[in-house]
Amino acid sequence: MKKNIVLLPGDGIGQEVIAAAKEVLAAISDQFNHTFTFDKQDIGGTAVDKHGTPLPSQTVEACKKADAVLLGAVGGPKWDQLPSHLRPEKGLLGIRKELGLFANLRPIKGFDQLLHASPLKEEIVKGSDLLIVRELTGGLYFGKPSERRNNGNSVVDTLAYDRYEIERIVDKAFQSARLRRKHLTSVDKANVLESSKLWREVVEEKKTAYPDVTVEHVLVDAVAMKLITNPTQFDVIVTENMFGDILSDEASVLTGSLGMLPSASLREDGIGLYEPVHGSAPDIAGKGIANPLAMIMSVALMLRHSFQLEEEANAVEEAVKAVLKDGYHTADLKIENGQLVGTKEMTNLVVERLSSKSATESIQSC
Ligand code: NAD
Ligand code: IPM
Ligand code: MN
Repeated sequence: MKKNIVLLPGDGIGQEVIAAAKEVLAAISDQFNHTFTFDKQDIGGTAVDKHGTPLPSQTVEACKKADAVLLGAVGGPKWDQLPSHLRPEKGLLGIRKELGLFANLRPIKGFDQLLHASPLKEEIVKGSDLLIVRELTGGLYFGKPSERRNNGNSVVDTLAYDRYEIERIVDKAFQSARLRRKHLTSVDKANVLESSKLWREVVEEKKTAYPDVTVEHVLVDAVAMKLITNPTQFDVIVTENMFGDILSDEASVLTGSLGMLPSASLREDGIGLYEPVHGSAPDIAGKGIANPLAMIMSVALMLRHSFQLEEEANAVEEAVKAVLKDGYHTADLKIENGQLVGTKEMTNLVVERLSSKSATESIQSC
């Protein structure tokens, strides 16, 4: 299979983890006979420095032509004081909108070997396996730009949703639930927000088309609590943009680190963008200690969702599991008696496992 992948390293550890993604894809192409070509483009603060904008038009054009896009992370203190339209984060929001990536899938599954890496009790974390389906191109993030009034002392952010935007993400969530344990938790703030009332109405209408899926509505504040007191009650969670952003960082605690969460940003058809849930981590950028596994598992999601390469996706995930089982971990994972490694070593270990698995298979098939 031949595929053209646009790489958007972005800023901070984004650059470091994208290098890991490339290594893993090189191993996959060797082992499974695929040809992946890479087209590196600028986004975020790096693009501001080079092109004066966080989202150059050539980046958008390249992404539109690509078979899939991999993104590292954007942002950093260097660009924090820029006006809103020049902030690195605007580049990320812009590319999501330009590509129509309304569905953000954030799977959260604790690895058994990392149970004790979570600050939560093992018996609480054990068995947690959930998917947050986050609406990605609406809500507060894309409200009317707020202007300061009253001598700079008043601002407005708007939270707007059209029915069709809610319908398509709710459909995506029901479809995802069908492929899993068939339970959907719709998260909103319907006791306060008009947008949440419409959200709940749509979920109630849609559920008749998915009679095999059980549905519950839970308010977002309660979900924040339940996620870390009884996470195994969740299968698929569907929610609006901002709630999904906050809840997914919180849910990362179940896995031991934010550096363990991959994500896929999709639309109904066409290309997807794959990125770790974490940011550019300015506190550790350039030190070579970032955890590359969220990015590597995002590669697995790309192989599965954009290229339908299920076997290859499983191989990547199994390689990650094997490395963790052998006790290797980066500094973000607080593990006693493990073997501490940096970004490059962790990447090499995953690549080695991928290669050795394939070597064993070819010996067996002789
Ligand atoms: P962050 O996710 O960058 O970091 C939060 C904490 O988690 C830090 O202590 C960091 O060191 C740690 N961490 C994150 N990823 C890690 C990894 N792979 N390995 C080891 N440790 C890891 O969030 P933040 O500090 O709030 O934001 C920093 C910048 O990143 C901001 O500019 C923000 O806007 C941006 N950001 C970008 C994205 C994205 O590009 N998708 C996501 C979140 C935040
Ligand atoms: C994420 C990030 C982004 C978001 C920021 C950087 C705009 O936090 O992908 O989770 O809030 O969507
Ligand atoms: Mn976030």
